[in-house]
Amino acid sequence: MPADFDTIVNLSKRRGFVFQSSEIYGGLRSAYDYGPLGNAVLRNVKNQWWKSMVQYRSDVVGIDSAILQSRQVWQASGHEEVFTDPMVECRNCNARHRLDKLDNADQCPTCGMKGQFTETKQFNLMLRTHLGPVESDENLVYLRPETAQGIFINYENVRRTQRLRLPFGIAQIGKSFRNEITPGQFVFRTREFEQMEMEFFCRPEESAQWYDYWLRTRHEWYTDLGMDPEHLRIRTHADDELSHYSAGTADVEYAFPWGWDELEGIANRTDFDLKQHAEHSGEDLRYYDQEADERFFPHVIEPAAGATRTTFAFLIDAYDEETVNGETRTVMRLDHRLAPYQLAVLPLSKKPELVEPATQLADRLRRTYELEMDVTQAIGRRYRRQDEIGTPYCITYDFDSLDDSAVTVRDRDSMEQDRVSLDQLDGYLAERLSPR
Ligand code: GAP
Repeated sequence: MPADFDTIVNLSKRRGFVFQSSEIYGGLRSAYDYGPLGNAVLRNVKNQWWKSMVQYRSDVVGIDSAILQSRQVWQASGHEEVFTDPMVECRNCNARHRLDKLDNADQCPTCGMKGQFTETKQFNLMLRTHLGPVESDENLVYLRPETAQGIFINYENVRRTQRLRLPFGIAQIGKSFRNEITPGQFVFRTREFEQMEMEFFCRPEESAQWYDYWLRTRHEWYTDLGMDPEHLRIRTHADDELSHYSAGTADVEYAFPWGWDELEGIANRTDFDLKQHAEHSGEDLRYYDQEADERFFPHVIEPAAGATRTTFAFLIDAYDEETVNGETRTVMRLDHRLAPYQLAVLPLSKKPELVEPATQLADRLRRTYELEMDVTQAIGRRYRRQDEIGTPYCITYDFDSLDDSAVTVRDRDSMEQDRVSLDQLDGYLAERLSPR
């Protein structure tokens, strides 16, 4: 059962997944810090994306471009002019709202007054700063609102140095910034967030086929990592929703506690970006096809996902409660590739004769798996603590271990326990977990 919103937010704070940014100063709205457990899940989500989109493929390479780019990039891409959301202000309480997200376009959700909105203004979402000591128009730069443009402006460098032939993709994971009018729903919509984007360059006549391929492939990525297919759907954008660069977009949506909402957009960006950058920079960004002796602008299919938003969705989807022996057990049924820890090592007692060999075992297993060693409190409570954060296996080192050189391995989901001899433990774990 997916968690309700407050349950998951409270668990995130209590167990150290996510904290409010600048909390000791009262908190900065719409920015969040990832604690040890949240950082681990976020990193695992990004690693899984990178493995499936770059490492396991022969046709995609990865880059890491700067957040700060020439202002001309955002003039060429169209963001300076049209990367806007429609904003209205309430004359009664001065609250500002994003018009397209209001349930009632005539009523202020903050004070409830009707008919008090000002005329709609187009509000540009890019965050600005200045490079160097002088704050002038000449040294104005934007914090990138998408990682994609860092790929387009490096297209020719990457293609040439890696000797790439169509079709091929360039991927990147990194921070993006948007001055959202109405951030909210915890880490779902923030002003600083992380994206996982890939620009797939192909022949224009093949773009429809690649669009279908990436839609399917990206949907499968979520289900392969354990997301319930019933909580996922693909929604095609209506023409009036399309971004300025898109000839067709479909979103992978998740059934969030407040309703269906976007996890990822797959867009057919055509040759819009390369053409724009070629025109504004004066560089020839056309692709040369040697066999046909022709030059043309490749078309681009872009799967663009949010790393922070996706992490949130995986947590919601994994959350479960069940009754065991009359007590409620909370269990995060996260895939072992995403769970913050794959293992917990639990010496049955605090006595050095158990803690010392358990520590040695934990230190050895740490070289392959991420694990936590927990020594305090009754074993039942320790199991519950690990269940709540999604640790797939707990290894208990008990007094019998001293004689039989074996440990008890407990499965998070079934709660079944196996006695495993220490010399077979590596093989036992290798069958069930992938090394990090
Ligand atoms: N390059 C295309 C692009 O940026 P987008 O649909 O605006 O497309 C892609 O963003 C993904 O980035 C979204 O599907 C979402 O997961 C994530 N994202 C966008 N704005 C966000 C925000 N304010 N907070 C968290 N994630 C966001």
